[in-house]
Amino acid sequence: MAATIGVVGLGKLGLPIAVTLALQGHEVIAYDRDSSRMDLAALSALELGPDATSSLHACIGEDLPVRFASLDELLSLVDCVFVVVDTPHGPTFEGITPLPDSRSDFGYVSLIAAVRSIVDAAPRPVEIGIMSTVLPGTIRSQILPLVGEHPLVYCPQFVAMGRVAADLLRPEFTLLGCGEQTAVMVPEILGGLGSAKRFVVSYETAELAKVAYNTFVSAKVTVSNLVQWMAHETGADVLDVFRILRSADQRLTSDAYLGPGMGDGGPCHPRDNIALSWLFRQKGAGADLFTDVMRARQAYVEWLGNAFREYAGGLPLVLLGTAFKPGSDIQTGSSAVLMATLLNQAGAAVTVAATKAHLSTLSLPAGAAAFFIGCPEPEFVEYPFPAGSVVVDPWCVVPDLDGVRVHRIGATPVAYAQS
Ligand SMILES: NC(=O)c1ccc[n+]([C@@H]2O[C@H](COP(=O)([O-])OP(=O)(O)OC[C@H]3O[C@@H](n4cnc5c(N)ncnc54)[C@H](O)[C@@H]3O)[C@@H](O)[C@H]2O)c1
Repeated sequence: MAATIGVVGLGKLGLPIAVTLALQGHEVIAYDRDSSRMDLAALSALELGPDATSSLHACIGEDLPVRFASLDELLSLVDCVFVVVDTPHGPTFEGITPLPDSRSDFGYVSLIAAVRSIVDAAPRPVEIGIMSTVLPGTIRSQILPLVGEHPLVYCPQFVAMGRVAADLLRPEFTLLGCGEQTAVMVPEILGGLGSAKRFVVSYETAELAKVAYNTFVSAKVTVSNLVQWMAHETGADVLDVFRILRSADQRLTSDAYLGPGMGDGGPCHPRDNIALSWLFRQKGAGADLFTDVMRARQAYVEWLGNAFREYAGGLPLVLLGTAFKPGSDIQTGSSAVLMATLLNQAGAAVTVAATKAHLSTLSLPAGAAAFFIGCPEPEFVEYPFPAGSVVVDPWCVVPDLDGVRVHRIGATPVAYAQS
C-alpha cells in the first residue's frame, strides 16, 4: 500500500532513504533544517540504486514522488514520519585519531530538537519512526517523554553507505522497537520493503541489536586484520587462510568482512564501539570488548604504518586513498586516515592522495617513492608507479610490476597467483 511518508533529516542516510521509499511508490515529503540538503542534487553521486550497480541518481525520473517542504506542511500531510538526523560523537571518538582514555555518549541534541519540532508542529497524532543510531536506553529515557500521544518506533536501518537503496530493499530482517502505543504505518512500510523476518521488540532490544550488529562487523574485520598480521609475521599465507575460513559457513557464517585489507572504518562502526564502551563503563562492566576491538584495530593500523616505513627504506611516502572503503568518498572513521594521523604523530612526512581526484591535483613524486594502498580504487591499484618504487598493499590486489617491489601484506606469491 502506498503511503504518504515524511523524512526529517536528509544527510548521508536520510536523503537516499527518502529517494528509495519514493522508488517504492510511496509519496515522500522530505525536510531538513539545512536548506542545502533539500535538493535531489545533494544526493551523493556514489550512492548506488536498488541493483547496487547503477547510480541512484539514474533512477530518479521527473515523476518520482518525492518533494521537499516545510516541517509544517510535511506534518499536515503524512501518515508517518521517519527521523534520520545526526547523533554525533566527539571528533576524538570517530576512529581517525588514537583512542583516548575518556569516553562519552553520542550527542542527542539534534534528535531531541527534531522530535520536539515534530511534536510541536503536528496537527494530529503521527507515528514517529526513529532511524538515527542511539545507545541502548536512550529512546525510553530521552525521546519517549517528548512524544506524548504520538506512537514512537525505534527502527534503525542496517545499510552500508553507497548501498542504501539495495540494503533497504533487501533487508536481512525488519527490526521494530515498540512501546505501549500501537504503530501501524511504520511497521507496514518497513515490512513492505522486503520479505525479511520481522522482530517486534522493546526499544532497548532494538537499540542493542543495532549497535551489537556493528560491533560484530568490527570484530570480524579486526579478526581478519590480526590473521593478516600474523600471516605476515609467521610465513602463513593470508589468502589461503581466508579461503579456508570463508568455507566455514556453518559455524563462522558468511564470508563478508573476512579478507585482507585495512582496519574497520566508516561513519558508524568505530564510533558505535567507542560509545558502547562508554555505556559499558557506566554500567561498571569488568570487561570491555568494545575497547579491545578498537585497540586491536589501532594496533594493526599502526603496525601497517611501521611496515610501510620499513619497506620504504628512505623513499618518500605516498598514501593512496583514504576513503573508508572503495566506492565511497567518505573519510569519516577511516582507518587509512588513522594511519596518516599515526604516521604524522611519529614524525613521518607522508603525501596523502585522499581520493582519485587528488592524483591530478597533487604533485606526487616523479621518481621512485614508497606507495601504500589505503583504499583499493582501480586508479590507485593501477597507478603508474615509477621504476624503483615500493608498493605496500594490504588488500593483496596489486599485480607484480617490472622494476617495482610489491609487498602484498601476508600473502605469498603462490597464493596470490592462485587467487
Ligand atoms: N551513514 C550511515 O551509514 C548510517 C547508517 C546507519 C545509521 N546511521 C545513523 O543515521 C543518523 C544520520 O546519519 P547521517 O550519516 O545521515 O548523518 P548526517 O550528518 O549526514 O545527516 C544528518 C542530517 O540531519 C539534519 N538535521 C539535524 N537536525 C535536524 C533537525 N532538528 N531537523 C531537521 N533536520 C535536521 C542535518 O542538517 C543533516 O542534514 C545517525 O544517527 C547515524 O548514526 C548512519
